[in-house]
Amino acid sequence: NTHRPALLLTGHITPHPPLEAQLMAAFDCHVLADEADPAAFIAREGSRYPVLVTSGKNGANADLIASLKGLKAIAHFGVGYDNVDVAAASKQGVVVSNTPDVLNDCVADLAMGLLIDTVRGLSASERFVRRGDWLKGNFRLTSRVSGKKLGIAGLGRIGRTIAKRASGFDMAIRYYSRNPVAGVTFQHEKSLVELAKWCDVLMVVVSGGPATKHLVSAEVIEALGPQSFLVNVSRGSVVDEEALIRALKDKQIAGAGLDVFADEPRVPAALMEFDNVVLLPHMASGTHETRKAMGDLVFANVQSFFETGKLVTPVPA
Ligand code: DGY
Repeated sequence: NTHRPALLLTGHITPHPPLEAQLMAAFDCHVLADEADPAAFIAREGSRYPVLVTSGKNGANADLIASLKGLKAIAHFGVGYDNVDVAAASKQGVVVSNTPDVLNDCVADLAMGLLIDTVRGLSASERFVRRGDWLKGNFRLTSRVSGKKLGIAGLGRIGRTIAKRASGFDMAIRYYSRNPVAGVTFQHEKSLVELAKWCDVLMVVVSGGPATKHLVSAEVIEALGPQSFLVNVSRGSVVDEEALIRALKDKQIAGAGLDVFADEPRVPAALMEFDNVVLLPHMASGTHETRKAMGDLVFANVQSFFETGKLVTPVPA
């Protein structure tokens, strides 16, 4: 055991348990969340770990990073790393990797599925059939998807993959991002409110974290208006959920498709009441193929760091 490099996991890798087994086999692994007294464990052994693996709810805040005296790298399972304090890590000379690109297709597929479900009311109609209501009357008519105006907030790797799919549905596309994206022909809107005013569906794919907290504000939701839909596959923190709930109650928005929530896995009870809201359990990257590819990329980052001192897919410091 002792000659294998020491690897600390903040918690169990619940999005992809096989990675944990793979890491356990290759490295001298320890799971911090298993400790009855993590602080005592860190005080005792915290300097022993040059690499930390984080995922989902088990991130790394500034305190944890500062307490791990021997830490040099963090390999995060996920493309979004809003639960890893990269600024604190950089300050300490700790590099961070994520799992970009390998999930673009599956997240974009799910995003389109959620868009279609939200606009065409698939889940609501499915409930209608199960309730036996078809025997009593007709289903509720919904809205057309093809040819509609899609606003994409955040035209990164995933946003562009969604745009490719949406183009196949003859959707007109514009986007919002802090700066125009080079080499893109879609029209850039300087403000999210402007984009929301224009579009029929607002697809949110920005990264999470303090910079985008409540970016989809009451004002943006109002700009969307009663005929338009909101779809969020990024982070729950990006949407002001209370403002969204108010708008849904007042019928000031046509509906919403949400794969992510501010306090997930807890979902606001009020959201459960709306038939025009589709609720998913943060599953956009959740296919066997993609989770395996993400796991392999985490493993490759850890292995590469131990062997060469370099990460394969570092995030910007
Ligand atoms: C990601 O990769 O960021 C997904 O949200 C899974 O955590």
